[in-house]
Amino acid sequence: MHTELSSVVLRLEGTELSNAPGTIRRNKTAMMYTNIWYVAERQENLKNTPLPVRMLGRDFVLFRDQDGNAACLSNVCPHRGASLAQGQCRDEGGVACPFHAWHFDRDGNCTKIPSQKDPTGDIPPEAKIDAYPTQEKYGYIWVFLGDDLDAATPIFDMPEYDNPEWRAVTHSVVFNANQHWTKMADMDHVHLPIVHGIGFGGENPIRPPDHTVVYRDDGGYEVEIRGKPDITKGEWKKLRSDRTEVTSKLKYFIPGFTSRGKTLIGGPGSGHYNCWYQMMTPIDDETTQLHFTFHRSFMTEPENDAEHLKRNLRNVYQDKDIAEAIMPKRTPDVADWPPVRAELEDKMMDAYWQVLQQFRAKGWQIDRVQMEALDLRGEYRVIPSPARKQNPNDWVFDVVPRIAPGQSAGKPKQSEAA
Ligand code: FES
Ligand SMILES: [Fe+2]
Repeated sequence: MHTELSSVVLRLEGTELSNAPGTIRRNKTAMMYTNIWYVAERQENLKNTPLPVRMLGRDFVLFRDQDGNAACLSNVCPHRGASLAQGQCRDEGGVACPFHAWHFDRDGNCTKIPSQKDPTGDIPPEAKIDAYPTQEKYGYIWVFLGDDLDAATPIFDMPEYDNPEWRAVTHSVVFNANQHWTKMADMDHVHLPIVHGIGFGGENPIRPPDHTVVYRDDGGYEVEIRGKPDITKGEWKKLRSDRTEVTSKLKYFIPGFTSRGKTLIGGPGSGHYNCWYQMMTPIDDETTQLHFTFHRSFMTEPENDAEHLKRNLRNVYQDKDIAEAIMPKRTPDVADWPPVRAELEDKMMDAYWQVLQQFRAKGWQIDRVQMEALDLRGEYRVIPSPARKQNPNDWVFDVVPRIAPGQSAGKPKQSEAA
């Protein structure tokens, strides 16, 4: 059947936009945000050579300074645009560009231009680069991508980390999916029995038990559900008999777009928990880097690591198949999603969408439409760093365009028949 595409009208950003000839299609806009702590890399992967990393569709370089601490700069040299990640770390700290060896310290200051008569004097004021605050926590290098550090939500606590009562395994994977679709494949309750075979027990094991979203002061939220699921099979089956009630708590934290699930695997009172963290960093609009830490407080002997990882990854890769096939590839820029709902579904995702709207209202959302136009014009834009607040002048590269604070997103409108 032929569909008359020219009749399809979407209402986005409060503007009627059609894909009739001559109009601009804006429905490929996706949503990425500044002023958030993101996981850039696993700590163990950053040694003594610079490491490139792509986040929010921009390029960065990670390196270790003279004290061994992780640092992060925009990767594009302000001189002639070379990739600093191809350069070298310096003994005195900082990184040297591979092209003309200008030195940049961890704060983004140019400290040396070797070709000059006085290499450390007469450094032009524009010879500086955006530097982003870093923290090394829980096995990861966290980078703050934004200019307003005071407004950032601090990185959450991970009490299970380095706790002898817990044992952890980790995994990193790239999904060829937009970050919000990736999150949707993680935070939706109804898919648990259908995609993963984890039923809730009761008369209709596909129906999640009633639950309420609780909003926390840190801007995140959480949900607790109680069910009587089976443990599917394998070693874990020894931990409890089927159909005992188990509590499962799912939390969302703003830093790292992190989901955290804690499930009582053993019977009530056993203290046997599986507790996983999923940190999510958008590489670009259609690709997402995921880092997982899976903790367990039972069978903590190392020989059980392989089984623990296998059981958790089975769920991750089932989600991957779903997320990577969702269309459109980029999330529509709308206030809420999906446009059609079933009763009781979507509570967690509603909360997630609200958080995104708050980011947007603060002026943190990158304007992808403008940015794509600038990219096409050959303008490289960077994520603004905190130093831009102190001194907005003398930067070679301008910053990514962001949607002005308070500008609200429109709702999707149903397609209209021809
Ligand atoms: S391009 Fe980096 S020093 Fe010339
Ligand atoms: Fe899932």
